Amino acid sequence: MPTDYKSVKKQFEKSMNEYDDNALVQNIVALKMICEVAQISINFENILELGSGTGLTTKKIAREFKFKNFFANDLVEKSKIYVQKYIPNANFLCGNALKIKPPKKMDLVISNAMFQWFDNLESAVGTIKKSMNKGAILAFSTFGVDNYKELRDITGLSLNYKTLGEIKNILEKLGFKILYGENFYEEMSFKSPLELLVHMKKTGVNSLSDEVWTFKKVKDFCDKFSKKYPKTILTYSPIIVVARKK
Ligand SMILES: C[S@@+](CC[C@H](N)C(=O)[O-])C[C@H]1O[C@@H](n2cnc3c(N)ncnc32)[C@H](O)[C@@H]1O
Repeated sequence: MPTDYKSVKKQFEKSMNEYDDNALVQNIVALKMICEVAQISINFENILELGSGTGLTTKKIAREFKFKNFFANDLVEKSKIYVQKYIPNANFLCGNALKIKPPKKMDLVISNAMFQWFDNLESAVGTIKKSMNKGAILAFSTFGVDNYKELRDITGLSLNYKTLGEIKNILEKLGFKILYGENFYEEMSFKSPLELLVHMKKTGVNSLSDEVWTFKKVKDFCDKFSKKYPKTILTYSPIIVVARKK
């Protein structure tokens, strides 16, 4: 099923107030990714951040990198307010990352925990590449095939996740040199399956499907989860890639 961006936007919009306190894994991933980029360079004339959300990654960009122009993008208009809290003169391009028209060519395009929503990674990266200068850096994080594996086991729902190897091949084919690639695991523990569902909602991720979670569906999910897993654990499987446009 193709990504329903209206639904993705709606879920993230709703979760924004609680996102930062709950997005613990996304925070670890952002820190690691920025650290990897900083080892290559901290100076970039033009930076574009895709899927800026509540500015969790923007804040770290503002702290670590030196730049002349900063552009942020998100489906959600309210993201601009969060971004400008950390970078007051940031330019905000609202809309689908693949449809925006940045006014300059970028030296760094960076995105945390957003590329997993692209239905066709090859075509998406091909589009993003057009807004990059030769030699520019593309740094992004997404999630691997084991992400939310407990949820997939119980509900059968999953995004079209790719392996690190598949992602590297796509980028190389598109004319990027891979500078860094990592797939790692983080587990989060909860007191109950219900608490796990609440956590997902607070990080904007009940948009894996359009399904309405009725009381009965929530109860069925919790019962099945408890039966299958003695402890309530949610596996995250983040992937970080840093590449240079040749
Ligand atoms: C998991 S949040 C990550 C937010 C932020 N990057 C962070 O590090 O916490 C994903 C964000 O990407 C945005 N998003 C998802 N698909 C998008 C697209 N195609 N274009 C622009 N923004 C998108 C969502 O609205 C949401 O704010």
